[in-house]
Amino acid sequence: MRRDGLAVLIPEDELRAGVATLAREIDRDYATTGMVIVCVLKGAAIFTADLLRVLQAEVHRLEFVRASSYGGGTQSSGDVRLTGTLDPSHLGGQHVLIVDDIADTGYTCVAVKNYISGLEPASLRYCTLLDKPDRRAVEVQYDYVGFTIPNHFVVGYGMDFDERYRGLPAIYYFPEE
Ligand code: IMP
Ligand code: MG
Repeated sequence: MRRDGLAVLIPEDELRAGVATLAREIDRDYATTGMVIVCVLKGAAIFTADLLRVLQAEVHRLEFVRASSYGGGTQSSGDVRLTGTLDPSHLGGQHVLIVDDIADTGYTCVAVKNYISGLEPASLRYCTLLDKPDRRAVEVQYDYVGFTIPNHFVVGYGMDFDERYRGLPAIYYFPEE
């Protein structure tokens, strides 16, 4: 895959170590209960796949929800669309962990949390691989954060710019930005 003009922000080995550290935190909290994971598509697909394979705690079910707010640019519109509905009987009374790729404005977190809270889970937590706290537009709580990063637009490891670069194995940014 072409990666011209991109600079590495988080190399593969650091990503792997960060995902393992997150898994240990999650394992501790869900050791006795296990969890249902809800992956926020599309960006979190690769992170979720890797996280699942290093978690020791029981994952009772894997579900997906699709959130989109970026019409192809790099700015969130604040208007988050959720598609792909979840069966309430799969989440009601369950310990639900939402897994996302990146915390930016926070609008996605609010929208997904509101939607899933309505399905009455036993508990609800939010995990994000990356966090850009400088960009936050709403106050929200992320329970697990893999890496706090500066305000760069990043791609790779599931994340895209206009649907490109999702397959890159590390996390990159555009240095000339
Ligand atoms: P938020 O709703 O602004 O917090 O944005 C969260 C979503 O926007 C993420 O789940 C990503 O899909 C997308 N996003 C935010 N920042 C970036 C970035 O730097 N690169 C790629 N996608 C991003
Ligand atoms: Mg996303």
